[in-house]
Amino acid sequence: MSRVTTVQLRKMKEAGEKITVLTAYDYSMARLLDEAGIDVLLVGDSLGQVVLGYDSTIPVSMEDMIHHSRAVARGARRAMVVADMPFLSYQVSVEDCLYNAGRLLKEGGAHAVKLEGGREIVDRVKALVAAGIPVMGHLGLLPQAVHVTGGYRVQGRDEDSARRIVEDARLLEEAGAFSLVLECVPASVAAEIARAVSIPVIGIGAGAGCDGQVLVTYDLLGLFSDFTPRFVKRYADLRPLVLDALRRFKEEVREGIFPGPEHSF
Ligand code: KIV
Repeated sequence: MSRVTTVQLRKMKEAGEKITVLTAYDYSMARLLDEAGIDVLLVGDSLGQVVLGYDSTIPVSMEDMIHHSRAVARGARRAMVVADMPFLSYQVSVEDCLYNAGRLLKEGGAHAVKLEGGREIVDRVKALVAAGIPVMGHLGLLPQAVHVTGGYRVQGRDEDSARRIVEDARLLEEAGAFSLVLECVPASVAAEIARAVSIPVIGIGAGAGCDGQVLVTYDLLGLFSDFTPRFVKRYADLRPLVLDALRRFKEEVREGIFPGPEHSF
């Protein structure tokens, strides 16, 4: 089985074939997503909230990202693995950016990295691509900039900010990004961007006009209940099932039902 590549993703866009991207933070989930045929596994810095219990992505470290990327990479046989560059791993300098992205490939086993931002990171994107590191951009709502934007809000609602996002998408394409995530922008703006660039645009809360869709897997499975954004569709509601299994385990242990003779040596 051959690995999904940046070239293949581009061909999918050209053929009008939608691209599927889901987040993964560990080996077992990566195996499931890969078996289901998901094209790209994103080791998102959303792991800060979903698996580490922080209230934003800001505290996530390079060590966290490398640790989780490595686990996901071991489980992904066909899917491409993209690792998020965490806050402060690329903002300070091009050199820092290059070094940290390199670590995500070299130590984390990722095949590409994702960075948030538009025109302000064009120099980083160029340097990474020149060094052989494929880059996925991220525009619209930028979770790492939540303290500047004042919350997790839809972006590009007015003409000026929509135009700015379209321009940024073009700049990222010119800089060599192979794809970009578009988070929480009006569907009409997202569709315009998908038409304006030849690289695949992966939407999250960005309507159906994108070239593919990404979701946080724990949201899709109903396993993360702290908050659920409007753009999430729950394909399963696993939390009650998991709770029920855990409570039955507790009850059976307390009542001496588990382990039975068939579980004992
Ligand atoms: O960190 C993440 O999971 C992401 C997706 C929401 C696109 O960046």
